[in-house]
Amino acid sequence: MKKRDVISKKVQAISPSGIRKFFDILATMEDVISLGVGEPDFVTPWHVREAGIYSLEQGHTSYTSNYGLLELREEIARYLRRRYRLSYNPQREILITVGVSEGLDLAMRAVLDPGDEVIGYEPSYVSYLPCTLLAGGKFVAVPTTIDNGFRVRAEDIDKRVTKKTKAVMLGYPSNPTGAVMDRDSLERIAEVAQKHDLLVISDEVYERLVYGVEHTCFASLPGMKRRTIHLGGFSKAYAMTGWRIGYAAARADIIEAMMKIHQYTMMCAPTMSQMAALEALRAGEPQVESMVAEYDQRRRVMLKGLNAIGLDCFEPRGAFYCFPSIRVTGMNSERFAEQLLLEEHVAVVPGDAFGKSGEGHVRCCYATSMEEIEQALERMGRFIKKHRAR
Ligand SMILES: Cc1ncc(COP(=O)(O)O)c(C=O)c1O
Repeated sequence: MKKRDVISKKVQAISPSGIRKFFDILATMEDVISLGVGEPDFVTPWHVREAGIYSLEQGHTSYTSNYGLLELREEIARYLRRRYRLSYNPQREILITVGVSEGLDLAMRAVLDPGDEVIGYEPSYVSYLPCTLLAGGKFVAVPTTIDNGFRVRAEDIDKRVTKKTKAVMLGYPSNPTGAVMDRDSLERIAEVAQKHDLLVISDEVYERLVYGVEHTCFASLPGMKRRTIHLGGFSKAYAMTGWRIGYAAARADIIEAMMKIHQYTMMCAPTMSQMAALEALRAGEPQVESMVAEYDQRRRVMLKGLNAIGLDCFEPRGAFYCFPSIRVTGMNSERFAEQLLLEEHVAVVPGDAFGKSGEGHVRCCYATSMEEIEQALERMGRFIKKHRAR
């Protein structure tokens, strides 16, 4: 078989994540401060780890239901009711997934037919486009810019709707920009979804990481529960990235369709991790609050520091990223990230890794210690002084 025939056209059409490339360079260097990886620097709270360990001690080493542990689904249903006044049937409307990552893939594959279009926005999370393509769909991106706070506008979605549009992809609070959406803007998007009979896939993995604003859950807007595939997770709020647990909440017919794929590809999410997630939801609230308070302090320091060294940055109100403009250097974002890494040993992610409209920015993650943030800012300040375009 010829080399080019081995890999499917679908897979050939997607590129490896632009984030990874930098980590390969970084792995060969010493004394690097990484503002690159988008994951909490905290270790999972001890009582949650203990619940995982205890589940092993108790011998819970077999499969769970394909939908996931019923107790965990019930706890998630209670959480969504308590927090967003949403009412999901834990038996039929909630599916435990292997992280939000799997939830995204299942959602796309469950609803898309070849050629169906998904309207998303950019810069946005690196998986939205490839998951759409792998499911046979087409990703139609609305560019967003710093001028509108990186929020996607309903009218821009409306303009791009065609006969083939099946869904809108939202992911707020946003990775990489830290933007959040206000209720009014989401309501306008809900009207567009209603008008054109569209589904909305809403990745709310950062719902708990908001600073001084309230998160609006898209499914909780009037009439939207039946149109929304809500994706939630444990990775960010509970510092549980390695446990690989997330969930999807949606109408029973959609959850059943997602479950069919999940059943044949995953069987179920890891049992030990489901037990730990149950403990996280039941008793992890104080830890979530203290981690959020800590992120907020780091956010303020990074925002102030970036603006002070001449990298204009709008105020991120969610997730754990700053997305400053690097215009003062006249470099493109890939060159900036590469030079900064080589000259000052600070890793950031080029903005264009999140779509073309991310060009001219870099993503700096503040889920790292205050000391590292301060040192990184000092090194970046030196770098900017040297490279400021005249
Ligand atoms: C916006 C967004 N969605 C989903 C994920 C994946 O989360 P999980 O660890 O639950 O698969 C990430 C991880 O960085 C993310 O930033």
